[in-house]
Amino acid sequence: MKVNTMKQTLIKTLSAGIMAAFIASPVANAAGGGVHLEPADIDVHDKISLLRGAKYYANYCQGCHSLKFSRYNRVATDTGISDEQIQDLIFTRDEDDKPTKTGALMTSAIPAKDAVNWFGTAPPDLSLIGRSRGADWVYNYLKGFHTDSSRPFGVNNTIFDSVGMPNVLADLQGDQDPVFRYDLMHNGHVASSFTSEEAANKALKEKLTYNVLKLGLMGEKIVEKYPTEKEAADYVASKTSYKVLLNKSEVDSFATKAEGESYVKANPVEGGKYKITPKSAYSTAKSHKIAKVVDHLELVKPGKQSPAEFDRTVHDLTNFLAYVSEPAQLHRKTYGIFTLLFLLVFFVFAYMLKKEYWKDIH
Ligand code: HEC
Repeated sequence: MKVNTMKQTLIKTLSAGIMAAFIASPVANAAGGGVHLEPADIDVHDKISLLRGAKYYANYCQGCHSLKFSRYNRVATDTGISDEQIQDLIFTRDEDDKPTKTGALMTSAIPAKDAVNWFGTAPPDLSLIGRSRGADWVYNYLKGFHTDSSRPFGVNNTIFDSVGMPNVLADLQGDQDPVFRYDLMHNGHVASSFTSEEAANKALKEKLTYNVLKLGLMGEKIVEKYPTEKEAADYVASKTSYKVLLNKSEVDSFATKAEGESYVKANPVEGGKYKITPKSAYSTAKSHKIAKVVDHLELVKPGKQSPAEFDRTVHDLTNFLAYVSEPAQLHRKTYGIFTLLFLLVFFVFAYMLKKEYWKDIH
């Protein structure tokens, strides 16, 4: 009896643990990164959107990026167009300098070696980007390019710092300038935010202290606060004593390093070596600092598309990349429903057969 209850408790605990792991995992994944992403709201069953996405892809991305697990004719079938129609999207040529065939894999036009020279990194294959980074990430990445004169192509990206890719959609989108925000940080948390650097610096001046940290005997942290860096440094200098080590064991300790050095000079030893190190370990740290972050982006030069049109363009591109990363998702659910229907019908026959077999036994 007792063993039984124990077993039950064990099973309960285990199953609760497994359930918790399943429930917790998506939350844990979603919490990673820390950047707020605008949802892409894609619909891979929207064939018109997929087709528009494929067109933009061929025109704006395939020069650099391949989709090496996709074939043109598969994209044609899945978006509901003919093999002749998809030919309009094929800009690459095969070895005999003929237009690439519709059954071919969607390679990129750029040789990988040149790409590394031009961009610092080879443009990655994007076959699985919809799954590895996720649709929301891709959507925000494509919308997140902004001017940055310190970068080689004059652009940076809000969610991919120091990105190697130029803003290839700039003619459609226009140019976006970053609008900065200045966060006053305290212990890794944002204490307050400012729109101007001067205001942030003023607040920093009021709050800033120089903290001297020391571990106490019980491992507790002792903090001494000073208004200036010099006072903190003077405190540390006045409190630090030096120990003189001979072959790793302590010989004596002195109030200043100079006293330690004169002891070493006055007591030469044969073969052994002295080492002078601080006896007490302090560290100094600033209590607050300012972090300059991109608050939002501002369109400063309009492109060929309005912001709403550009949103749709990026949405279509993201939709297409999400579809490409798992083409089977278009059919997977339909297969599932048919399989369940089949099982339902099969169950009726199986049940009737069972009745027939057991009829004489009961
Ligand atoms: C001129 C060449 C070029 C073109 C055209 C181009 N890219 Fe890129 N792309 C790059 C390079 C280079 C990188 C690598 C950036 C890095 O690692 O710093 C990259 C990176 C990316 C990434 C991030 C991959 C990752 O997870 O690290 C995505 C997504 C992407 N590109 C999508 C696109 C899309 C969509 C288009 C078309 C609208 C496009 N790119 C057009 C060169 C290009």
